[in-house]
Amino acid sequence: MPTLGVNIDHIATIRQARRTVEPDPVAAAVLAELGGADGITVHLREDRRHIQDRDVRLLRQTVRTHLNLEMAATAEMVEIALDIKPDYVTLVPEKREEVTTEGGLDIVGQAERLTQVVATLQDAGIPVSLFIDAEPAQIEASARTMAQFIELHTGRYAEAPGEAAQAEELAYLKAGTEQARSLGLRVNAGHGLTYWNTRSIAVIEGMEELNIGHTIISRASLVGLERAVREMKQVIRGEF
Ligand code: PXP
Repeated sequence: MPTLGVNIDHIATIRQARRTVEPDPVAAAVLAELGGADGITVHLREDRRHIQDRDVRLLRQTVRTHLNLEMAATAEMVEIALDIKPDYVTLVPEKREEVTTEGGLDIVGQAERLTQVVATLQDAGIPVSLFIDAEPAQIEASARTMAQFIELHTGRYAEAPGEAAQAEELAYLKAGTEQARSLGLRVNAGHGLTYWNTRSIAVIEGMEELNIGHTIISRASLVGLERAVREMKQVIRGEF
Protein backbone atom coordinates (compact mmCIF):
# COMPACT_ATOMS: atom_id res chain seq x y z
CA MET A 1 0.00 0.00 0.00
CA PRO A 2 1.25 3.53 -0.65
CA THR A 3 2.27 5.85 2.15
CA LEU A 4 0.42 9.11 2.86
CA GLY A 5 2.04 12.50 2.50
CA VAL A 6 -0.21 15.08 4.12
CA ASN A 7 -0.16 18.44 2.38
CA ILE A 8 -0.67 21.15 5.01
CA ASP A 9 -0.70 24.19 2.69
CA HIS A 10 -4.29 25.01 3.54
CA ILE A 11 -3.58 25.33 7.25
CA ALA A 12 -1.34 28.19 6.13
CA THR A 13 -4.09 29.47 3.80
CA ILE A 14 -6.35 29.98 6.83
CA ARG A 15 -3.57 31.72 8.75
CA GLN A 16 -2.69 34.00 5.82
CA ALA A 17 -6.36 34.99 5.43
CA ARG A 18 -5.76 37.09 8.58
CA ARG A 19 -1.95 37.39 8.41
CA THR A 20 -1.86 36.16 11.98
CA VAL A 21 -0.05 33.32 13.75
CA GLU A 22 -2.82 30.71 13.85
CA PRO A 23 -3.26 28.01 12.80
CA ASP A 24 0.44 27.16 12.63
CA PRO A 25 1.42 24.62 9.94
CA VAL A 26 4.22 23.44 12.24
CA ALA A 27 1.62 22.37 14.84
CA ALA A 28 -0.49 20.84 12.06
CA ALA A 29 2.48 18.75 10.94
CA VAL A 30 2.96 17.38 14.46
CA LEU A 31 -0.73 16.42 14.65
CA ALA A 32 -0.70 14.91 11.16
CA GLU A 33 2.26 12.77 12.19
CA LEU A 34 0.47 11.75 15.39
CA GLY A 35 -2.41 10.67 13.17
CA GLY A 36 -0.13 8.46 11.12
CA ALA A 37 1.04 10.69 8.26
CA ASP A 38 4.08 9.13 6.63
CA GLY A 39 5.29 12.45 5.29
CA ILE A 40 4.53 16.17 5.33
CA THR A 41 4.21 18.07 2.06
CA VAL A 42 4.28 21.83 1.58
CA HIS A 43 4.30 23.99 -1.53
CA LEU A 44 6.38 27.14 -1.18
CA ARG A 45 4.85 29.27 -3.91
CA GLU A 46 6.63 32.17 -5.55
CA ASP A 47 3.89 34.54 -4.29
CA ARG A 48 4.00 33.03 -0.75
CA ARG A 49 0.20 32.91 -0.67
CA HIS A 50 0.13 30.22 2.00
CA ILE A 51 3.34 28.53 3.17
CA GLN A 52 6.08 31.00 4.22
CA ASP A 53 9.86 30.55 4.26
CA ARG A 54 9.73 30.44 8.05
CA ASP A 55 7.36 27.46 7.92
CA VAL A 56 9.68 25.43 5.73
CA ARG A 57 12.67 26.20 7.94
CA LEU A 58 10.84 25.20 11.12
CA LEU A 59 9.30 22.11 9.50
CA ARG A 60 12.76 20.98 8.48
CA GLN A 61 13.65 20.94 12.18
CA THR A 62 10.42 19.45 13.52
CA VAL A 63 9.12 16.93 10.97
CA ARG A 64 9.95 13.44 12.15
CA THR A 65 8.74 11.57 9.05
CA HIS A 66 9.88 13.14 5.80
CA LEU A 67 9.47 16.60 4.36
CA ASN A 68 8.49 16.91 0.70
CA LEU A 69 9.00 20.43 -0.65
CA GLU A 70 6.89 21.22 -3.71
CA MET A 71 8.31 24.09 -5.69
CA ALA A 72 8.72 25.62 -9.12
CA ALA A 73 12.03 24.96 -10.88
CA THR A 74 13.29 28.52 -10.41
CA ALA A 75 16.72 29.74 -9.29
CA GLU A 76 15.21 31.21 -6.11
CA MET A 77 13.52 27.94 -5.12
CA VAL A 78 16.56 25.80 -5.94
CA GLU A 79 18.64 28.02 -3.67
CA ILE A 80 16.11 27.61 -0.84
CA ALA A 81 15.99 23.82 -1.31
CA LEU A 82 19.78 23.54 -1.28
CA ASP A 83 19.83 25.51 1.95
CA ILE A 84 16.95 23.75 3.74
CA LYS A 85 17.56 20.26 2.35
CA PRO A 86 14.08 18.70 2.42
CA ASP A 87 13.92 14.90 2.21
CA TYR A 88 12.76 15.25 -1.36
CA VAL A 89 11.66 17.97 -3.74
CA THR A 90 8.67 17.76 -6.08
CA LEU A 91 9.01 20.10 -9.03
CA VAL A 92 5.66 21.53 -10.06
CA PRO A 93 4.54 24.05 -12.69
CA GLU A 94 3.41 27.34 -11.23
CA LYS A 95 1.37 30.21 -12.59
CA ARG A 96 0.66 33.24 -10.46
CA GLU A 97 -2.98 33.50 -11.47
CA GLU A 98 -3.94 29.87 -10.84
CA VAL A 99 -5.99 28.86 -7.78
CA THR A 100 -4.02 25.62 -7.44
CA THR A 101 -1.53 23.70 -9.57
CA GLU A 102 -3.13 23.17 -12.97
CA GLY A 103 -1.76 20.37 -15.16
CA GLY A 104 1.59 18.68 -14.89
CA LEU A 105 5.05 19.93 -15.77
CA ASP A 106 6.00 19.97 -19.43
CA ILE A 107 9.19 17.93 -19.25
CA VAL A 108 9.40 17.41 -23.02
CA GLY A 109 9.38 21.15 -23.69
CA GLN A 110 12.04 22.09 -21.13
CA ALA A 111 14.07 18.90 -20.83
CA GLU A 112 17.48 20.55 -20.79
CA ARG A 113 16.69 23.06 -18.05
CA LEU A 114 14.85 20.53 -15.87
CA THR A 115 17.63 17.96 -16.25
CA GLN A 116 19.99 20.61 -14.94
CA VAL A 117 17.76 21.41 -11.95
CA VAL A 118 17.32 17.70 -11.17
CA ALA A 119 21.11 17.21 -11.27
CA THR A 120 21.77 20.24 -9.04
CA LEU A 121 19.33 18.98 -6.38
CA GLN A 122 20.27 15.31 -6.59
CA ASP A 123 24.01 16.15 -6.47
CA ALA A 124 23.22 17.82 -3.14
CA GLY A 125 21.61 14.60 -1.92
CA ILE A 126 17.99 15.71 -2.45
CA PRO A 127 15.94 13.19 -4.47
CA VAL A 128 13.64 14.81 -7.03
CA SER A 129 10.10 13.99 -8.10
CA LEU A 130 8.49 15.50 -11.20
CA PHE A 131 4.76 16.28 -11.10
CA ILE A 132 3.44 15.25 -14.51
CA ASP A 133 0.37 14.07 -16.35
CA ALA A 134 0.47 10.35 -17.14
CA GLU A 135 1.36 10.99 -20.79
CA PRO A 136 3.78 8.45 -22.28
CA ALA A 137 6.02 11.16 -23.78
CA GLN A 138 6.22 13.06 -20.47
CA ILE A 139 7.05 9.86 -18.59
CA GLU A 140 9.83 9.00 -21.05
CA ALA A 141 11.22 12.52 -20.83
CA SER A 142 11.07 12.34 -17.01
CA ALA A 143 13.18 9.19 -17.02
CA ARG A 144 15.75 10.94 -19.22
CA THR A 145 16.16 13.74 -16.64
CA MET A 146 17.40 11.06 -14.20
CA ALA A 147 14.87 12.15 -11.55
CA GLN A 148 14.19 9.34 -9.09
CA PHE A 149 10.42 9.85 -8.87
CA ILE A 150 7.44 11.14 -10.74
CA GLU A 151 4.18 12.23 -9.15
CA LEU A 152 1.25 11.45 -11.42
CA HIS A 153 -1.32 14.24 -11.55
CA THR A 154 -4.66 12.76 -10.48
CA GLY A 155 -6.64 15.96 -11.10
CA ARG A 156 -8.29 14.80 -14.32
CA TYR A 157 -9.28 11.50 -12.65
CA ALA A 158 -10.68 13.41 -9.66
CA GLU A 159 -12.70 15.76 -11.84
CA ALA A 160 -13.85 13.20 -14.43
CA PRO A 161 -17.54 13.70 -15.17
CA GLY A 162 -19.14 10.32 -14.54
CA GLU A 163 -18.06 6.74 -14.00
CA ALA A 164 -16.94 5.91 -17.54
CA ALA A 165 -14.71 8.97 -17.79
CA GLN A 166 -13.27 8.25 -14.35
CA ALA A 167 -12.55 4.62 -15.27
CA GLU A 168 -10.75 5.86 -18.38
CA GLU A 169 -8.60 8.23 -16.33
CA LEU A 170 -7.88 5.46 -13.83
CA ALA A 171 -6.72 3.14 -16.63
CA TYR A 172 -4.49 5.97 -17.91
CA LEU A 173 -2.92 6.37 -14.46
CA LYS A 174 -2.38 2.61 -14.16
CA ALA A 175 -0.69 2.45 -17.55
CA GLY A 176 1.44 5.46 -16.65
CA THR A 177 2.54 3.85 -13.41
CA GLU A 178 3.52 0.67 -15.24
CA GLN A 179 5.42 2.55 -17.93
CA ALA A 180 7.26 4.69 -15.38
CA ARG A 181 8.28 1.71 -13.29
CA SER A 182 9.53 -0.14 -16.34
CA LEU A 183 11.81 2.88 -16.97
CA GLY A 184 13.14 2.72 -13.41
CA LEU A 185 11.10 5.63 -12.04
CA ARG A 186 9.43 5.46 -8.65
CA VAL A 187 5.82 6.64 -8.69
CA ASN A 188 3.78 8.88 -6.39
CA ALA A 189 0.41 10.48 -7.16
CA GLY A 190 -1.75 13.31 -5.99
CA HIS A 191 -4.05 16.28 -6.54
CA GLY A 192 -7.78 16.33 -6.04
CA LEU A 193 -7.88 13.03 -4.14
CA THR A 194 -10.75 12.79 -1.66
CA TYR A 195 -12.22 10.33 0.86
CA TRP A 196 -14.33 8.98 -2.03
CA ASN A 197 -11.84 8.57 -4.86
CA THR A 198 -8.53 7.70 -3.19
CA ARG A 199 -8.86 3.97 -2.68
CA SER A 200 -8.80 3.13 -6.42
CA ILE A 201 -5.52 5.02 -6.75
CA ALA A 202 -4.09 3.45 -3.58
CA VAL A 203 -4.45 -0.05 -5.03
CA ILE A 204 -2.52 0.69 -8.23
CA GLU A 205 0.37 -1.77 -8.28
CA GLY A 206 3.65 -0.03 -7.49
CA MET A 207 2.19 3.25 -6.21
CA GLU A 208 4.53 4.53 -3.47
CA GLU A 209 3.08 7.69 -1.94
CA LEU A 210 -0.13 9.69 -2.21
CA ASN A 211 0.08 13.41 -1.50
CA ILE A 212 -3.26 14.61 -0.20
CA GLY A 213 -4.16 18.00 1.20
CA HIS A 214 -7.39 19.84 0.59
CA THR A 215 -9.80 17.06 1.47
CA ILE A 216 -8.03 16.29 4.76
CA ILE A 217 -7.89 19.93 5.88
CA SER A 218 -11.53 20.39 4.81
CA ARG A 219 -12.63 17.40 6.84
CA ALA A 220 -10.54 18.51 9.82
CA SER A 221 -12.31 21.89 9.84
CA LEU A 222 -15.69 20.17 10.04
CA VAL A 223 -14.95 17.26 12.37
CA GLY A 224 -13.25 19.74 14.73
CA LEU A 225 -15.89 22.48 14.57
CA GLU A 226 -18.29 21.13 17.18
CA ARG A 227 -15.53 20.83 19.78
CA ALA A 228 -14.15 24.25 18.92
CA VAL A 229 -17.55 25.90 19.43
CA ARG A 230 -18.08 24.03 22.71
CA GLU A 231 -14.69 25.27 23.92
CA MET A 232 -15.50 28.89 23.04
CA LYS A 233 -18.73 28.60 25.04
CA GLN A 234 -16.57 27.42 27.95
CA VAL A 235 -14.28 30.45 27.49
CA ILE A 236 -17.33 32.74 27.67
CA ARG A 237 -18.48 31.03 30.84
CA GLY A 238 -14.98 31.22 32.34
CA GLU A 239 -14.67 27.44 32.37
CA PHE A 240 -11.82 27.00 29.89
N1 PXP B 1 0.53 17.04 -5.27
C1 PXP B 1 0.90 18.21 -5.86
C2 PXP B 1 2.08 18.21 -6.76
C3 PXP B 1 0.19 19.40 -5.61
O1 PXP B 1 0.58 20.54 -6.20
C4 PXP B 1 -0.90 19.36 -4.71
C5 PXP B 1 -1.63 20.63 -4.39
O2 PXP B 1 -0.78 21.52 -3.78
C6 PXP B 1 -1.24 18.14 -4.12
C7 PXP B 1 -0.53 16.99 -4.43
C8 PXP B 1 -2.37 18.02 -3.15
O3 PXP B 1 -3.57 18.28 -3.79
P1 PXP B 1 -4.91 18.39 -2.97
O4 PXP B 1 -4.77 19.57 -2.06
O5 PXP B 1 -5.95 18.57 -4.03
O6 PXP B 1 -5.05 17.11 -2.19
